[in-house]
Amino acid sequence: MDAIQIYGGNPLKGEVRIQGSKNAVLPILAAALLINGTCEIENCPIISDVHHMLRLLESLCCNTVRNGHTLIIHSENLSECDMPSDSVGVMRSSIMLLGALLSRVGSVSMQYPGGCVIGQRPIDLHLKALRKMGVVIDEREDGFVAQTKGLTGAYHSLPFVSVGATENIILAAVLAKGDTVIDNAAREPEISALCEFLNKAGAKIEGAGSRRILIHGVEKLHEVSYRVPADRIVAGTYLSACLCSGGEVFLDEAPYMQMEAVIDAATHMGAEITRNEDGIRVKCLERRKALSLLCTESYPGFPTDLQSAFLTAMTLADGKSVIKEEIFENRFRIIPELQKMGARITCDGHTAIVEGCDRLKGANLYANELRGGAALVLAGSAADGKTVVFNRHFIERGYEDICSDLRALGVVCGTVEIHD
Ligand code: EPZ
Repeated sequence: MDAIQIYGGNPLKGEVRIQGSKNAVLPILAAALLINGTCEIENCPIISDVHHMLRLLESLCCNTVRNGHTLIIHSENLSECDMPSDSVGVMRSSIMLLGALLSRVGSVSMQYPGGCVIGQRPIDLHLKALRKMGVVIDEREDGFVAQTKGLTGAYHSLPFVSVGATENIILAAVLAKGDTVIDNAAREPEISALCEFLNKAGAKIEGAGSRRILIHGVEKLHEVSYRVPADRIVAGTYLSACLCSGGEVFLDEAPYMQMEAVIDAATHMGAEITRNEDGIRVKCLERRKALSLLCTESYPGFPTDLQSAFLTAMTLADGKSVIKEEIFENRFRIIPELQKMGARITCDGHTAIVEGCDRLKGANLYANELRGGAALVLAGSAADGKTVVFNRHFIERGYEDICSDLRALGVVCGTVEIHD
């Protein structure tokens, strides 16, 4: 089995460069379909979710060329194809292609995108919004056919914040006839990055990053080159590694301005965090303090994607911490794995209560989704002795090379293939 082996228990020391943002580049790759020509995307992370998205673009007769961290996407030959179910099924972000594709080819048939262990991941908001914009959607057992004679702008008031639905509506609205308004839009930095990319290509989008976004439909977009911003969740993951293991690290290119809630929570746990124009320095020289209550929220609140990493840090904090997961229905899957290491956690639905302990001991752990898997690697880095985290492929969906990054911070770890 694919795994990561870690010999932990020592404070961190070192510097690591933060990769480009997975959750920014995925919708931007979908947006590339709106450009009947070539676009260049720089600082693109080399991760399996990007690989799957490129396969989907190629299945739509786009040409993609990767040169290190730079991608060139040619979508002149975009045509109606059925997207390969193995890639659609694997990755939820495939739904992001729907809005953009309907703008270009008018008909899309696809399987329902993969849910995952953290939750059902429905797409009802996506389909409802597209129907309001002139799309006829025929839902079937395991998928649907969406068709339109031409997208028209519409008013959308989202009942709750959804990053993906906000992105899909933007992608459908950019070339639609007329104006589109999104009220209660998601404010995540990845939405702002998507709108920056689209406006650079000639779109007319106002209000990105606020609760109300206005899109004036335009006739066409032109070719563009764009640099993907650094990944705030990867930066938060390595900040959490320092919370878990102690020590001092420098996170080069970490997007400080997008991490206010994370930095605030870490500071309350006793981390000393400073910044300069290159990135963030994190010092954890004393034992971490417990957090009486940490709740996940949509941006600019504390991100659900760092809930597992902070839960892990709390297992070693001094005292009792409480963390509430308000976004997804099943995102405490790592608790039984942490308990194998001696962590003292009780879970009641959306709330986990953690009694900090002095040390964790190494164990064999099993990842079953991306961010929880990364958190288990952090736990192994902090634990005494050897830890093996199996199912490394979940982590590789979003982290270019977590072992190399953690080795740069002084952790003894590497990838292994373990045969039963
Ligand atoms: C995006 O997922 C991110 N993924 C997730 O990151 C992130 O956790 C999430 O936003 C929340 O910030 C990407 O950007 C590729 P949502 P998304 O729509 O768009 C429910 C990671 O680890 N909902 O904001 O799927 C949904 O079930 C991933 O990088 C509906 O009910 O999230 C969830 O409970 C994990 N119906 C809540 O809304 C819908 O039609 C928020 O989901 C859509 C969503």
